[in-house]
Amino acid sequence: MRHPDQQFFNSFMLVLGMLIGVAVGQVALAASEEPAATQNEPVSTHEAVAAPLTGPQVYNAVCIACHSPPGVGGAPAFGDGEVWAARIAQGIDTLIDHALHGFTGSTGVMPKKGERIDLSDEEVIGAVKYMVEQITQ
Ligand code: HEC
Repeated sequence: MRHPDQQFFNSFMLVLGMLIGVAVGQVALAASEEPAATQNEPVSTHEAVAAPLTGPQVYNAVCIACHSPPGVGGAPAFGDGEVWAARIAQGIDTLIDHALHGFTGSTGVMPKKGERIDLSDEEVIGAVKYMVEQITQ
């Protein structure tokens, strides 16, 4: 009689079929999770774009328009010790205040943040320090 063997074989095939089904399901699940993992990447790219600009970067992008020698509209020229000496004598806090909030002096008008009000205070302060460093070094 082969009947019991046949029954065992059928049960065995049923269990094997279930195991294969589970394995295939897990592979499909792992594959479907992958796009979700890569979707998180743009977040870190965004953080890099939002990093603050350095003093030289701000100067070269914004302030240079008026402060590059010989100076436009009465702006003190970058690196010119003679025109900067009296201004530096006021103290760095006054220079920063004038750059952040705007200033009308004897030679012209320094617009608030060089007309780039989207810059943070720290970015503008970095540019002021960079301009002053050219004189004191
Ligand atoms: C549209 C032209 C213009 C731009 C752009 C500009 N400046 Fe000026 N800036 C001036 C002028 C003009 C003066 C001189 C004002 C005066 O003393 O009569 C001046 C003066 C200054 C002073 C001296 C202030 C003082 O008390 O003597 C500083 C510091 C300064 N600018 C920083 C900056 C920085 C930093 C930037 C860039 C973020 C910048 N400027 C962009 C025109 C500009």
